[in-house]
Amino acid sequence: MMRDDEVVPLESQLDWQERYCRAAGSPTSAEILRAVIDDLDGPRALASVLPTHTRFGDLIGLRIMAAVHLLAIERLAPSVAIFAPTLGGVAPSRGTNPDRATSEFHEAVVEAITVNAEMVATAITEVPQTNEVGRSRLLRIALSMIGGDVRLFEFGASAGLNLRADHLPGEPTLESGPMPRVIERRGCDLNPIDPTTTPGRARLTSYVWMDDIDRFERLRGALRVAAEIPASVVTQDAAGFVSGLELNAGSTTVLWHSSMWGYLPESTRARIHEGIERLGGAASSESPLWHVAWEPIADDRDRHELTVQVWNGTPGSGVARTLATGTTHGGQITLTGGDSDPGGRQASE
Ligand SMILES: C[S@@+](CC[C@H](N)C(=O)[O-])C[C@H]1O[C@@H](n2cnc3c(N)ncnc32)[C@H](O)[C@@H]1O
Repeated sequence: MMRDDEVVPLESQLDWQERYCRAAGSPTSAEILRAVIDDLDGPRALASVLPTHTRFGDLIGLRIMAAVHLLAIERLAPSVAIFAPTLGGVAPSRGTNPDRATSEFHEAVVEAITVNAEMVATAITEVPQTNEVGRSRLLRIALSMIGGDVRLFEFGASAGLNLRADHLPGEPTLESGPMPRVIERRGCDLNPIDPTTTPGRARLTSYVWMDDIDRFERLRGALRVAAEIPASVVTQDAAGFVSGLELNAGSTTVLWHSSMWGYLPESTRARIHEGIERLGGAASSESPLWHVAWEPIADDRDRHELTVQVWNGTPGSGVARTLATGTTHGGQITLTGGDSDPGGRQASE
């Protein structure tokens, strides 16, 4: 299996992402990548627009899929849009002649990239901003174990949609109780997106996979929530953000991150660990710290796990526990049967 920091040929990364999308039920997004792979040495030489090698964890495939989707959303690539279910089109695999539709789609994708080469070249330098609100279902599992007031912090927050998790749909059967009161919502990102602007909403939408109408609808709902529930997302590196956090007596500090760890170099990861250890060491029953993460399982890139570490000043604080596993966007959630109440419900109300 390829490691995040491994530099791999473009084709290997795209090939892996294509298979991932197909297995996850998004054949149209997979076909975007197949079109690119098949054309790398083709007449339009897409290879001249795209890098030859990439860091695996930078997920170049996702970036290309989003760039093509954005061209369709912006009506710069109508011949792609007619195949995009998210935009009312008919997926190539669902047409009356799937083979012909697939080859027309490939042609449309390659043409869209070639004609908009400059825009695509810029777009793929940007870290994917898949602000997936399906992941808030996982954060809610942890929040539902906490009583009293919560200050919610997130690094790699993108548009900050999951900072509104308590107002987003959850899975009641997975939750231990009602949502606590969230009294502060603050995040950071290298490139925050403002979900209240039209370009911001278009960009967020571009990261939804083309076949995924459910995710599209979830995002639409979350954008409505974002218009009503404020949350701040500052432009800052994750390590600096964590090192600037402090605990507050009388409330639980929840530090959350999801699907972003892979983008971080080792040095940043080490600084974040140090920051969390510092906060954990200062935590008490009056000012507990919860570190909650939804990130890929180390030896199984296809699945994510919900891990929780709770510090409250008691011996044994800070032990990581896995509460659930599922797919990257928060689907197929299975509770692990581990400790369902890792820190004890904090009853400070
Ligand atoms: C795939 S998105 C996930 C967004 C959000 N956490 C979610 O689950 O919906 C990864 C995010 O991490 C951000 N990111 C990557 N490296 C970062 C860093 N060093 N500091 C802060 N944010 C970072 C990216 O800009 C991007 O918004």
